[in-house]
Amino acid sequence: MQLERILQSQGFGSRKTCRILVRGGAVRIGGEVVDDPFAEMDVDGLNFEVAGETWSYRAKAYLMLNKPAGYECSREPRHHPSVFALLPVPLVHRGVQSVGRLDEDTTGLLLFTDDGPFIHRWSSGKKQTPKVYDVHTKHPVDDSQIQRLLDGVILHDEPDTVTAASCQQKGETILQLTVTEGKYHQVKRMVAAVGNRVVALHRGRVGGLSLPADLPSGQWRWLADQDLFRLADY
Ligand code: URA
Repeated sequence: MQLERILQSQGFGSRKTCRILVRGGAVRIGGEVVDDPFAEMDVDGLNFEVAGETWSYRAKAYLMLNKPAGYECSREPRHHPSVFALLPVPLVHRGVQSVGRLDEDTTGLLLFTDDGPFIHRWSSGKKQTPKVYDVHTKHPVDDSQIQRLLDGVILHDEPDTVTAASCQQKGETILQLTVTEGKYHQVKRMVAAVGNRVVALHRGRVGGLSLPADLPSGQWRWLADQDLFRLADY
C-alpha cells in the first residue's frame, strides 16, 4: 500500500495531509526518513514513526481505557470532557467508538474499536455478555436486597424483569454485581429498585476480560489477541 494511504488509514488525516507529512520529513521507517508519499509498503508488521512517535499498522484498532470519573462517553459531551479526549488524535480520527457506554461518574473498563461488526456483537444485549461491577452503596446491603437483585426487579419503562446474573456482598456497603444486558443506568436503577442507592460504580470485567491492575486511571492500551480471546472466554 502507498505510504500516504497507510497513514490515512491509521488516522493521520486526509491523503493530502498525509502527503504533506511525508514530504515534510515527519515519517520514519526503520529509523530513516521516507519522504516519498507514494512509496509502496507491505503493511504486515509495519512499524513507522510520525513526528517521533512509533506506531504499528493495524487494519482495525481495538483498545481498552481505564475510564476515570468525570468523563462522558459521547463524542459531543454536554457537561464534562469526552473520553475521546483521553485517546490519541489518530485513534479518534480513524473513528474508534466505545463499545457500549459508561455513565459520566462510572469508572473502569471501557473498550473502543473502529470495527463496526465488533461493536454490534459486543454491545447488543443478545450476546448476554457478563459485565462485572463493583458497586458502592449508600446504605448497608442486606440479604433480601441481594435476593431481589438475583430474582429480578422491575425497572421503569422495561417490559421484562431485569435480573443480576450474580451478586455477592464484598463489604457492608459493597456489592459485586454481574449483569448481562446494557440498559440505560442499569446497575443504578436495579440497586434503586431494591431500596438502596449507588454512590460509586466501577466496571472491572467484560466477558472474560478484566481491567489490568497496572493500567492507571485515564490510560489506554491496545488489546492484544489474547485479550480478544479472553473477552469471548466466559
Ligand atoms: N450501570 C449503570 O447504572 N451505569 C453504568 O455506567 C454502567 C452500568
